[in-house]
Amino acid sequence: MEYDVKDMGLADQGAGRIEWATQSMPVLNRIRKRFADERPLAGATLAACLHVTTETAALMRTLAAGGARVLLCASNPLSTQDDVAAALVKNDAIPVFAIKGEDHETYYRHINAVLDAKPQYTMDDGADLVSTLHSDRSELVGGVKGGTEETTTGIIRLKSMAADGALKYPIIAVNDARTKHFFDNRYGTGQSTIDGIIRATNRLLAGSIFVVCGYGWCGRGLAMRARGMGANVIVTEVDPTAALEAVMDGFSVMPMDEAARAGHFFCTVTGNINVIRKDHFAMMRDGAIVANSGHFNVELDLEGLAAITRSRRVIRPFVEEYALENGRSVNVLGEGRLVNLAAAEGHPSSVMDMSFANQALGMEYLIQSGAGLENRVYPVPEAIDRRIAQEKLAAMEVNIDRLTPEQEKYLASWNMGT
Ligand code: ADE
Repeated sequence: MEYDVKDMGLADQGAGRIEWATQSMPVLNRIRKRFADERPLAGATLAACLHVTTETAALMRTLAAGGARVLLCASNPLSTQDDVAAALVKNDAIPVFAIKGEDHETYYRHINAVLDAKPQYTMDDGADLVSTLHSDRSELVGGVKGGTEETTTGIIRLKSMAADGALKYPIIAVNDARTKHFFDNRYGTGQSTIDGIIRATNRLLAGSIFVVCGYGWCGRGLAMRARGMGANVIVTEVDPTAALEAVMDGFSVMPMDEAARAGHFFCTVTGNINVIRKDHFAMMRDGAIVANSGHFNVELDLEGLAAITRSRRVIRPFVEEYALENGRSVNVLGEGRLVNLAAAEGHPSSVMDMSFANQALGMEYLIQSGAGLENRVYPVPEAIDRRIAQEKLAAMEVNIDRLTPEQEKYLASWNMGT
């Protein structure tokens, strides 16, 4: 079996950490048991491009239990947990191609390695796999029947491919399931981003000024958790409704030109390019700490920063200090890559439980019922989304009410008024 991981000697450490994560993934665990009995993915070859974490390992095992042949590469050069990669190869015979800190050329060599298996299905996080398949490996695209996509950024890319007529197979947008983005994007990003910033810096958030750029689901979660740590939170936005929501949630809202002067910490979660630019870096106070938790490392204009920098050094792991020509310094975390996965371990398992339940059931749906789908982006079927919420509640031992027959009748009627 071909694979490319950092060190197979790390496999035992990875196995323990995967077991630990799996303990907090009850919904996915139930799916894995059913998959092992029913084998609904039997015969499918599936190429996955995901953050190689303990939670992803639990998903890969679930897909393999369902009968799929799975291959895994990283969806970000800095997010791989090398012990997990080794454990999946050693204990599950899953070919993994991922090394934390891999360079650009290795990153794409690994994507190409999973494509060499001629997959019928893709599972992507950010759409680098799908885009490589459609551009550099287009000879393989005819053999692909469908795919799933994990994240907001990937869905934006895939929808624009579909709008251009460039998308050659149907995609299930896992991110758009309510049991994904309400929880993973908000509580997962909220906690893991703070975790990454603290692990990288060991600085105190209480009493600081923390600037959150973007108030989508990720920004909402991050602002809420930064406030919970005692920071004074400023939100920057371009969307008037989102900005209004941030104001009414009690945050200060202002343009980046003003926030840049004020903040001690900055974190981008917008999905857009060059959100913090050269002029903003030049305005920042000495020692400002800047991070990104959006999918791609494009939200910070690091070239612009380099252009006003005298010298740079890695002052501690995941912290690069840029000494500016103006005499001040700016610290960039995790090379501007998503700080929650670069400097911490990504979202906690209990939230990935729902995201990856959507991945597993979305893939089962594609394989079993995807034949008539067109080449565009589809939501996860509502019934799947609801079932995941019900199972998560059951696992948390939370009971809820049911509609009475009278209430059902009332909701279905239009003639019962005042
Ligand atoms: N994305 C964010 N957190 C993650 C995790 N723990 N595993 C896989 N993908 C993630």
